[in-house]
Amino acid sequence: MRIDILTLFPEMFQGPFSVGIFQRAIDRDLVEVNIHNIRDFTHDKHHIVDDYSYGGGAGMVLKPEPIFEAVESVKSDIYNEEKPDKLPVILLTPQGRLFRQQIAQELSSYSHLILICGRYEGVDERVRQHLATDELSIGDYVLGGGELAAMVVTEAVVRLLPGVLGSEESALDDSHTAGLLEYPQYTRPSVYRGWAVPEVLLSGDHGQIEKWRRQQAILRTLKRRPELLDKADLTSEERKLIEKLKGESSP
Ligand code: ADE
Repeated sequence: MRIDILTLFPEMFQGPFSVGIFQRAIDRDLVEVNIHNIRDFTHDKHHIVDDYSYGGGAGMVLKPEPIFEAVESVKSDIYNEEKPDKLPVILLTPQGRLFRQQIAQELSSYSHLILICGRYEGVDERVRQHLATDELSIGDYVLGGGELAAMVVTEAVVRLLPGVLGSEESALDDSHTAGLLEYPQYTRPSVYRGWAVPEVLLSGDHGQIEKWRRQQAILRTLKRRPELLDKADLTSEERKLIEKLKGESSP
């Protein structure tokens, strides 16, 4: 997969992309991440990327020209090598659809992604209307710009690419993969400061362990994020159990 990120702050990406799974994925050629400075696509002496908002109001607005030109330059570079079926151009903005695991899975199926980092003051509307094919928000709060959001999206997508995680770190059990939060995990020692690991996990009975983990995942989701259960992948028996538990906890 190739991911191109357009930003006014390329230096923000140095740290996160040079450690851990990213570095490993890049070293193994499983992903190529290119960072482009939007300012490089200006033509004036002062490399101006923003301007006042038409109609007045506080804050500057990112100009359309450098963003369009940066995306067009990346696209022509990609098209020189191959012609992908789809080339999503994603604007990171608090106004976008809320990013979640299902969207990470959807994005991991593309061969290329272009991410545009907006700044919080605003981006010229024509970028949304005529350039971006999608808009994503990583949560209902406002960041200074889309950079951290682009990193979040990139990390969530890259770890799903085949070969990026070893089998021991498989993404299958992750929270949210089956629409449930993950079950509790323990490692040695089996008793720490008097707190013992649940007996079943030490039993070696894999059937019982699976059953316990599944129940714990459901219980934990019910307690912390009950709204997730509506869309979770559950058997009719599990749904009945949830109804019973809900009945028990209500006054
Ligand atoms: N830019 C500023 N805030 C953001 C958010 N919550 N998600 C994505 N991009 C943003």
